[in-house]
Amino acid sequence: MKMRSSFVVLAAVLVLAFAASSEAVRTKRVHSKQSLDLLDANPSLLFDRFERDHGKSYGTVEERARRFDIFRSNVEKARALNARSGSSATFGVTKFMDWTEQEFSEKVLMRKQHGAQVPRREGGFKLRGAIEDAPSSWDWRDHGAVTSVKNQGTVGTCWAFSAVGNIEGQLALVDGTLESLSVEQVTDCDGGSFPNNRTGDCQVFGGWPFLAYEYVINAGGIELDDDYPYCMLNETCWPCAPPGWNTTICGPPQPYCKKEDSCHFDKTKVAAKLASWASLSQNEEELKAQLHQNGPVSIAIDATSLYIYWGGVVEGHLCSSDPGDVDHAVLLVGYGSETNIFGKEVPYWIVKNSWGADWGEKGYFRLYRGKNTCGVANYATTSIM
Ligand SMILES: *[C@@H]1O[C@H](CO)[C@@H](O)[C@H](O)[C@H]1NC(C)=O
Ligand SMILES: *[C@@H]1O[C@H](CO)[C@@H](O)[C@H](O)[C@H]1NC(C)=O
Ligand SMILES: *[C@@H]1O[C@H](CO)[C@@H](O)[C@H](O)[C@H]1NC(C)=O
Repeated sequence: MKMRSSFVVLAAVLVLAFAASSEAVRTKRVHSKQSLDLLDANPSLLFDRFERDHGKSYGTVEERARRFDIFRSNVEKARALNARSGSSATFGVTKFMDWTEQEFSEKVLMRKQHGAQVPRREGGFKLRGAIEDAPSSWDWRDHGAVTSVKNQGTVGTCWAFSAVGNIEGQLALVDGTLESLSVEQVTDCDGGSFPNNRTGDCQVFGGWPFLAYEYVINAGGIELDDDYPYCMLNETCWPCAPPGWNTTICGPPQPYCKKEDSCHFDKTKVAAKLASWASLSQNEEELKAQLHQNGPVSIAIDATSLYIYWGGVVEGHLCSSDPGDVDHAVLLVGYGSETNIFGKEVPYWIVKNSWGADWGEKGYFRLYRGKNTCGVANYATTSIM
């Protein structure tokens, strides 16, 4: 229940889109560090605007005061990050701005996976040609292999969005059809685990894309999102723990659930099937060629600092590349490079997130490419159709 308590607030936030004025301000500002005057404005005026823009309402005067304090300290943090010289990312007021970093981690990210030993499956994907043959930039969004940006809400289902995003890319490339597939099916039905490796899929408490592929392989396929829609965003469903749930790995399941909202996979509605999956390279030059040849890639990273991210390229000082610090799964969809305002050449990955299109660069963010930033290359995988 704790996980869901802020659902109502977030749902309200999502229904109310950015006010037109703030959207215009934001678009103009991304990448222009000099003009971040928004963060220099009076914090109390900023907070009023934040409440308006995101439809926030707090139960009591005390709660509002507490949220304002958190908001103000996040503004300070964003300001300090923006002031750091040489950095190519900008930080600002996001819809998560009245949460502490700790609250954000608990509500949206997965627990850090220090005990997990994630198996690798080598050799499943063979690169045709040389690594150097890959173009200097590539974006699968321009080649019909990426569906619209989704919103996971305040539950830790990122692992399912990441895996399903990869499967959508495979379907587009193999079959020529671009369709949103069912994340809800995977979160409701997949309780798979590798007990010897202490990795498991734990519904709203996190999981692993490779186990999601294993689930889809064994289940016999995945339905369309239209046929089995995501319902955890605005509290319209309360699925019970999926079959196979391992309490030692996942902890206790949510205390309240409804049988009728639980796994109801219909095999007659399968839209895509998988044959296998493969680990991709931990070398980013090779990973770049694999992405170009094979489609969007599922990855898992340390995402702690992303809650106040606005735009630009996130660099290594903002996150950890230690495999044990992983707390979020996302989808690599492309790469490129740009010259930043300090005249420095910045190679980057383009990453699709699952926090709605009103976060970051229209739902996407970019990570520095070439230094395993935030652990981008630690857990790169793809399904195989
Ligand atoms: C995971 O567990 C299996 C046994 O089920 C073992 O063979 C394998 O080596 C383990 N993988 C890792 C990465 O520890
Ligand atoms: C659950 O996971 C634990 C720890 O990895 C393992 O020892 C146990 O055998 C698992 N239980 C089942 C039913 O698989
Ligand atoms: C749930 O949220 C989605 C996305 O904001 C919206 O399109 C849908 O109408 C909402 N459903 C209900 C029942 O509120």
